[in-house]
Amino acid sequence: MSKFDYNKLIDNEAALQSRSIFWEPEIYQEELKQIFNRCWLFLGHDSQLPEAGDFLRTYMGEDDVIVVRGEDGEVRAFLNACSHRGNKVCHAEWGKTKAFTCSYHGWAYDNMGELAAVPLEESIYDNLDRSKLGLVPVARVQNYKGMIFGTFAEEGPDLVEYLGDMAYYLDVVLDASPEGMELIGTPYRVEIPGNWKLPVENAIGDGYHVAWAHAGAMRVVGTIGQGRSESVLGIGKDNTGFDDSGQLQIAIPPHTILSTLDGQSGYALYDNPGPCIEHLERVRPSVVERLGEVRGKQLLGSETHMGVFPNLQIIQGLNLLRVIHPKGPGAFEVATYSMADKNTPDEVKDIIVKHVGQTFGSAGILEGDDGDFTEAITHSPNGYATRQMKGWLGMAKGRTMDWDGPGEASPGIVNELCQREFYAQWQRTMLAESASDILPQAPIQKESVNG
Ligand code: FES
Ligand code: FE
Repeated sequence: MSKFDYNKLIDNEAALQSRSIFWEPEIYQEELKQIFNRCWLFLGHDSQLPEAGDFLRTYMGEDDVIVVRGEDGEVRAFLNACSHRGNKVCHAEWGKTKAFTCSYHGWAYDNMGELAAVPLEESIYDNLDRSKLGLVPVARVQNYKGMIFGTFAEEGPDLVEYLGDMAYYLDVVLDASPEGMELIGTPYRVEIPGNWKLPVENAIGDGYHVAWAHAGAMRVVGTIGQGRSESVLGIGKDNTGFDDSGQLQIAIPPHTILSTLDGQSGYALYDNPGPCIEHLERVRPSVVERLGEVRGKQLLGSETHMGVFPNLQIIQGLNLLRVIHPKGPGAFEVATYSMADKNTPDEVKDIIVKHVGQTFGSAGILEGDDGDFTEAITHSPNGYATRQMKGWLGMAKGRTMDWDGPGEASPGIVNELCQREFYAQWQRTMLAESASDILPQAPIQKESVNG
């Protein structure tokens, strides 16, 4: 029984959040249990593990996890902790191996997680049952069109049920071509002293901050940009001439979408968008045929931010995928990957990787700006009086629009629908008795109308 009243910490009607959810250490410990130990979490992509023995390391909450394709071709995930005393059995970030050998006393596990060898076994142990001492597996690992997810929950929804109608939008990235997409190269990793929820809701829904918070970066983009740099996400470079009509946010609980819907503005940040736009126009007819008008014409190439609860963001149009890993209540790591359809020409892939680095890489001009705000919002409640304040996300509440795709849509990307939905889902998950109860019934947008 939690000592916290999560119904009060998030007030969905008034769109208020208590600041304690960003700094309170005990709430953070409950998040690890209620959210990261039960939700489906992104682990990696098939393209990173093409052959038997290929592995990568990632995190599920703060649990260090190895994801590996075994000799039998199956992808599994295991805690990176030796069954003997808990030392890490893998220190590399990725690679290929037949065995993970613990550096402490030398126990060795094969790439299917079985304990394969124990030094001096015959002489020092009586009846050691190796079959019970394999690496601890992640309870369920499932794959949606190349995307590998895992959950520690034995019960609860399967991955496809968890993604629900969000799959309709994810397919714009995952199923635009018969070959599918791939993650290119290795991720950028940055650790920032802020609470993990802030970069998530910023990336999935905060269209409001872009022209103001990134004004300096946008001026750089305006200088080097040959794309649609006069207007970024509907907002003029000088914060004038605002017009985000035609753009929208969508709640597909527990997930969210923000999209410019114009089929091209994702390349506004590119200094060399020409080959990207040419490639997009080349493939668009086949994508329209494959995915239909809405997704092929409007969503393809638009800047579309897909938020998969809790910590995965896929940004179509900027061609990047980010995972936010919590590192305590006041710190997180963001891992940013470049992505493209497998059939993308190498020249275009090179441009994508370069621009992901320039914008959201370790020294990216946008990542650095956002890091400052997340740090300040996380740590200002160290002061007792500041701690009593609340955050407010009331913009465009109750404003709805007709939309041909799944979910409840609200016009404009300068809107706080996605952020409200994120915190509503955070609240549901913190309150849910079991993993079977974490999926919502309806978006909160439906439940209350108040301009
Ligand atoms: Fe791994 Fe002892 S802790 S072999
Ligand atoms: Fe930003």
